[in-house]
Amino acid sequence: MLAKLLISALAALSTLTQACPEHDFHARRHIKRAEPADTVWAYEASYNWGQLSESFSLCQAGTQQAPIPLLLTQGLSLNHIPRFGEGYNGTANGTFFNWGYGPAMSLAHEQGVYTTLPSFTFDDNGVNETVYLTGWHIHAPADHSVGGDRSKAELHFVHTTSEGTPRAVLAFRIDPGNSDSPFFAGLPRYFSFREVEKNTTTSMSPGEVLREVNWFSEFWTYRGSLTSPPCTEGIRFFVARNILFVGNAQMQDILNVSTYSARAEQEVWLHQINV
Ligand SMILES: *[C@@H]1O[C@H](CO)[C@@H](O)[C@H](O)[C@H]1NC(C)=O
Ligand SMILES: *[C@@H]1O[C@H](CO)[C@@H](O)[C@H](O)[C@H]1NC(C)=O
Ligand SMILES: *[C@@H]1O[C@H](CO)[C@@H](O)[C@H](O)[C@H]1NC(C)=O
Ligand SMILES: *[C@@H]1O[C@H](CO)[C@@H](O)[C@H](O)[C@H]1NC(C)=O
Ligand SMILES: *[C@@H]1O[C@H](CO)[C@@H](O)[C@H](O)[C@H]1NC(C)=O
Ligand SMILES: [Zn+2]
Repeated sequence: MLAKLLISALAALSTLTQACPEHDFHARRHIKRAEPADTVWAYEASYNWGQLSESFSLCQAGTQQAPIPLLLTQGLSLNHIPRFGEGYNGTANGTFFNWGYGPAMSLAHEQGVYTTLPSFTFDDNGVNETVYLTGWHIHAPADHSVGGDRSKAELHFVHTTSEGTPRAVLAFRIDPGNSDSPFFAGLPRYFSFREVEKNTTTSMSPGEVLREVNWFSEFWTYRGSLTSPPCTEGIRFFVARNILFVGNAQMQDILNVSTYSARAEQEVWLHQINV
């Protein structure tokens, strides 16, 4: 299973590896930002990830590496439309923490059972696939630029298959706007690097985020990868066209506990944007 492979690949690198931010919060115990010697890869040097380890070769040689620059002239997707399940309109409980680069939340579920989590269904290769929301995290600045414009931050809703394999990411670009975001207003406000080991139990309304971007009705989608080593492919990205606007103070709260966590944009190749 992919997730297991990722974990063992990370484990093989001993205690120094930072968590694969996209999808593996289990490896979070390795996050020790204070000591540079603990770092085997860094966002600031994403150009050389492929050289750091053979298991990172896709970072350099992959054909569907994420993120990629997006353009309004590409149009928006008429395909792979996410059909949200009822769970998205409910409340989800989980653990709120700092993943080492910013705010994050991991949703509670029975060990190995993912199908109780909020889900959406989309078609890929003519097959309907359902994926389950296991958690979210924030990158700052945004991973995806649109027409060369980069938002201050980006929220990733990470979804796995029913077996827990990372499969799809809903990406929301975050910028300051005229009023507070109800989604963020409903979350605990403070979380700091110094408290990276501190977890808070909380609940959230995933549908609130959808509402704030006009129900995800307009988006780009492409075949991508994890945005950190080992850069595993097979992850479909959905990037909302609408910005998720937050208040100025909310934006400052997010940035104040975040650090640089955007991978350099990759060359467009076999990503099949919106196709
Ligand atoms: C905090 O929560 C994360 C995600 O659920 C978990 O992996 C980690 O073990 C927890 N850490 C502590 C100290 O409870
Ligand atoms: C979720 O709520 C929205 C707004 O009330 C509604 O349009 C949508 O049909 C609901 N979705 C499901 C799956 O119940
Ligand atoms: C979340 O927790 C609340 C309060 O403990 C509980 O009533 C609710 O059923 C939980 N929701 C889910 C989806 O587990
Ligand atoms: C996928 O789901 C849609 C909507 O329910 C349905 O119209 C379509 O026939 C399904 N496709 C397949 C291949 O099952
Ligand atoms: C950032 O967080 C620290 C610690 O909570 C706080 O003292 C400081 O005022 C915050 N700065 C801003 C600009 O919000
Ligand atoms: Zn991410």
